[in-house]
Amino acid sequence: MIRLTNLKKIYYTDEVETHALAGVNAEIARGEFVSIIGPSGCGKSTLLSILGLLDTPTEGRYMLNGTAIEDLSAAMRAKIRNREIGFIFQGFNLIGDLTVFDNVELPLTYRDGMSRAERKERVQASLERVGMSHRMKHYPAQLSGGQQQRVAVARALVGQPSILLADEPTGNLDSRNGDAVMKLLEQLHADGATICMVTHDQRFAVCAKRRIAMFDGQVVDEQALEELRANELRQPLSEQAAARSAV
Ligand SMILES: Nc1ncnc2c1ncn2[C@@H]1O[C@H](COP(=O)(O)OP(=O)(O)O)[C@@H](O)[C@H]1O
Ligand SMILES: [Mg+2]
Repeated sequence: MIRLTNLKKIYYTDEVETHALAGVNAEIARGEFVSIIGPSGCGKSTLLSILGLLDTPTEGRYMLNGTAIEDLSAAMRAKIRNREIGFIFQGFNLIGDLTVFDNVELPLTYRDGMSRAERKERVQASLERVGMSHRMKHYPAQLSGGQQQRVAVARALVGQPSILLADEPTGNLDSRNGDAVMKLLEQLHADGATICMVTHDQRFAVCAKRRIAMFDGQVVDEQALEELRANELRQPLSEQAAARSAV
């Protein structure tokens, strides 16, 4: 469903080039539950925003359901994003002065030709799926973090996207609420949803059926990632040792 070929993303700021993605190759098949792991700054969020058509690569190819994304206009990308992508963010990103119902309905209001009755039915079904239909008239601030994230999941699901993309979906939640949201994602996966999730929580990374490990903008194998991490951790110790022996 998704194929990335030599994907690169370079950010240019004040004459500094940041190679956030340095040639990523990866595939995600329909029905997979994949997690992306790796240290802070290695390019996980950049990769997810490109997958979610929120950002464009500097170089390389992104095929989504057989369409080369880099060839599309911004308007076409927005349209495909609305239909094919459900995004779940660490900070929930619900709109504070809209009710739960209106928040979940929002992505559907950008679709041509969907009747109000159909929208209502979809929103209700989506809220039922996440166990939040009893809070339809509440505002986000009246809900716990875990409930807000469940509403955000309902909003991501409502358009029946091809893939759910989640960037640290449990990052702002305590462990009980985090567990509940992960259970929900596992359930959606069991029901056939394709999910790609960024997490640095080992507990949750293992919920995914496959892990893509990243380091410095590249996909590495998991074994290599553990070694790279161990080296990073060892470095300060050896420097300390050198300092000690110099005294
Ligand atoms: N908009 C931006 N402008 C410049 N640099 C950025 C921007 N977004 C991310 N970066 C840089 O790109 C690298 C990868 O960032 P990111 O994808 O957010 O990493 P992660 O999600 O793995 O922590 C980092 O070095 C970060 O500082
Ligand atoms: Mg990130």
